[in-house]
Amino acid sequence: MTLSLTSPAYLAAPHKTLAAVLAEGPYNQTKIPFFGPITLVTRHAAIQTLLKDSDRFVVDARNAGHKSPFAMPFLPKSLKIMADNLLSLDDPHHQRLRRLTDAPFRRAAILLQRPKVQACAHELLDRMEREGNRDLVSGFCRPLPLRVIYGLLGFRPETEAKLDHALDNLSSTDAPLKMLWGLFRLGSVQEMLREEFRALHESPREGLVSELVHAEADGQKMTENELLAMVFVLFVAGHETTTHLLSSGVWTLLTHDGASEQVRAADDEARPVIVDELMRYCSPVQMTKPRFVKQDMEFEGRALKRGERLFGFLASANMDPDEFPDPLTLDLARRPNRHVGFGGGPHICLGIHLARMEADAALEALFTRYPGLALDGDPMAMKWISRSGLRGLKCLPLRMEA
Ligand code: HEM
Repeated sequence: MTLSLTSPAYLAAPHKTLAAVLAEGPYNQTKIPFFGPITLVTRHAAIQTLLKDSDRFVVDARNAGHKSPFAMPFLPKSLKIMADNLLSLDDPHHQRLRRLTDAPFRRAAILLQRPKVQACAHELLDRMEREGNRDLVSGFCRPLPLRVIYGLLGFRPETEAKLDHALDNLSSTDAPLKMLWGLFRLGSVQEMLREEFRALHESPREGLVSELVHAEADGQKMTENELLAMVFVLFVAGHETTTHLLSSGVWTLLTHDGASEQVRAADDEARPVIVDELMRYCSPVQMTKPRFVKQDMEFEGRALKRGERLFGFLASANMDPDEFPDPLTLDLARRPNRHVGFGGGPHICLGIHLARMEADAALEALFTRYPGLALDGDPMAMKWISRSGLRGLKCLPLRMEA
């Protein structure tokens, strides 16, 4: 079956298609913009191996015989610097960078931030009411994770404003000229960040960027290029993904009978279980970044060549009947739930606790504040973003009577 990952029909109701993909076998061939034809690994157990077995699969294409990371020699210089980030490096480089960033993302540290995130969620809902905005994506799902990641990073306000603009351009895959302009301007954004790093070197401030500038592992600090790539990946991975979990999660809850009531009745133990089931059922990140085959081998019944590129199809693995009983059913009390929505192995999402906590606080604020919360319009006609590999709504019009 040839998947169309950006078709409105797939995005609105992917589950039966995913079941059919799984039934066809452990691999699926499809095409996505930028990468061209790609091979997806579909099953839960195989994806666990793909992500965990770094003796056989690597993220840095150079370790599988290619000349450049991602096997893309023609990246512009400004993008090459950003591309050398956690997600495209293998150990020991990856491990060293990960150790430098781990501490603020541990569960205990993140849970301390919950009251602030909850207050921010209410401020955004207040603003939506004041402005008469009923689109949850622009009023809540997008600004909440953005404010949270900015709060954590601790940039100067002028840096925030420039970053906002640059990233708005760069994520405009629907508007190629705007995106090209974003790429062109990337160099000046990097220069501004370098200046900020140097200033923080002289006088440290509160916030993760300042901590990273001063952090050391094995007696070594990060280089300026490493800092740039790190800030970039934290910023990009840290907000857009959560935005899509919130929009697809709320849409899912509002299209399933009784689900809203379950959220309203949930306590601090039940709500995280709901968030994990939404992660499984929605898969806001549909696939992993590429993994490269380190040496010729056989895997899942297929002969693979050194350097070959595979992607883990998280969305199908999350529907795998060998792992999940009754996988196509949304079960907000599902336990255990070993979904792979945050990946796995050494590159498992660094922001896993942050994303879970944000979603938990957001759902509590939204559903307790509006007992009559409902979609405003035909759910199947609502527009999804058309970027392969992500699943979230463009806008989510709601009726928000208190
Ligand atoms: C619902 C929200 C999120 C989802 C679904 C998500 C998903 C993922 C996935 C699937 C990966 C692994 C990709 C791969 O192996 O190829 C990943 C990695 C990563 N995520 Fe997240 N993420 C989310 C939120 C966040 C947040 C809030 C941050 C905060 C900073 C973050 C930072 C990262 C980083 C830095 C990595 C790379 C880790 C490494 O390579 O060691 N993510 N994420």
